Amino acid sequence: MAPEIQSLFPSSTAVLLLLGACLSAAAVAALGAADDASRPAVPLPGGGARRVLFANGLGLTPQMGWNSWNHFQCDINEAVVRRTADALVATGLAKAGYKYVNLDDCWADYQRTKEGYMIANPKTFPSGIKALADYVHSKGLKLGIYSSAGTRTCSNRMPGSLGHEDKDAKTFASWGVDYLKYDNCYRDGTPETVRFGRMSRALKNSGRPIFYSLCEWGYMEVPKWGGMYGNSWRTTGDIIDTWSGMLDNIDRNDAYARYAKPGGWNDPDMLEVGNGGMAYNEYVVHFSLWAIAKFKCSVLSTHARGKSSLIDSSSCVPIVFGADRMGVQGNKVKKYGNDLEVWAGQLSRHRKAVLLLNRGATRSASITAAWPDVGIRRGVTVEARDVWKHETLPGRFTGSLTAVVGPHSCKLFVLTPVPR
Ligand code: GLA
Repeated sequence: MAPEIQSLFPSSTAVLLLLGACLSAAAVAALGAADDASRPAVPLPGGGARRVLFANGLGLTPQMGWNSWNHFQCDINEAVVRRTADALVATGLAKAGYKYVNLDDCWADYQRTKEGYMIANPKTFPSGIKALADYVHSKGLKLGIYSSAGTRTCSNRMPGSLGHEDKDAKTFASWGVDYLKYDNCYRDGTPETVRFGRMSRALKNSGRPIFYSLCEWGYMEVPKWGGMYGNSWRTTGDIIDTWSGMLDNIDRNDAYARYAKPGGWNDPDMLEVGNGGMAYNEYVVHFSLWAIAKFKCSVLSTHARGKSSLIDSSSCVPIVFGADRMGVQGNKVKKYGNDLEVWAGQLSRHRKAVLLLNRGATRSASITAAWPDVGIRRGVTVEARDVWKHETLPGRFTGSLTAVVGPHSCKLFVLTPVPR
């Protein structure tokens, strides 16, 4: 069941943590959507149909956790990662589903060993990755690692895995790694499907279930084939911590909504919430859109360097829609002019998540979610809970819900059918 995590808005400065949020989705019939099992497989160009073929049993709900890149970039070390794991537990985020603690670029030594192994950077990760995985596991969390389908990673500070897929996958497995983000830098001209496919097979043969996150940037229309090889795939280039950059990523990702399902997810890149490039209300929109579109829900660290904890309880953002069994990515269902939009996504227990978005910069506007647009049958009556305010609106709604939304802001509701 989807816990709605209450929140705590930042009283303190440097930090808004971020939780990636995931929307739950599930049984749908009453609201007029199709049941997942009855959904046709997605046709592929040239015939065939996409099923989730990368059957490693992982990613039945979108991944949720923390990743080092958007905040720390290459400035990571084992102390930061351990503190992050501690903070995920202490703040209750782990309990809410934020289980992955993911290293991004720059964790490894500059070159492979003479024997051809990747090893942790001895200066920043002196205890090694196995010890870090043990620590993270001792907290009930999972450890993620990073490499590239090229000769080097994007930072050029460590080797990539091209040509070393089996060795690296087995090494990661032997350390107890649970997740691999696989990037696309320093490639050799071989198509993505080949290079990302090689690592997919290597992970399957590694002896350990490892969540496989393709970071292919949306080249080669990855949503159409990513599910054959991995558990999620980036649909876009790197997110930029600005209002327009954020919207650009989510719009691109939205075009592929139908390819997301349990076992394989579209990924519009990690949250920037709290990193400073957007206003508070814009981060609320960022968080809400990522939640409703049900992605990859990477939490991203926003704590100031040197602070002892990533998140303190007075500094985090609210919502988590716990992910559940059925994965239907919410999407944009209605546009009014250039600025006003309605997004909707299916939730468990016949509920709908509905987001009213005002992209305009200057004026508040009244936005209506009409039942046919959001996929609710005409006669159905609902109660509406304002997710960010944590309160249920007075009265009941039949046919539509209208609210006034400020500039660069949104309102996010959960609609629950009630007897008339
Ligand atoms: C690429 C990826 C980013 C991050 C960096 C690390 O740009 O898309 O998410 O992993 O590399 O160098």
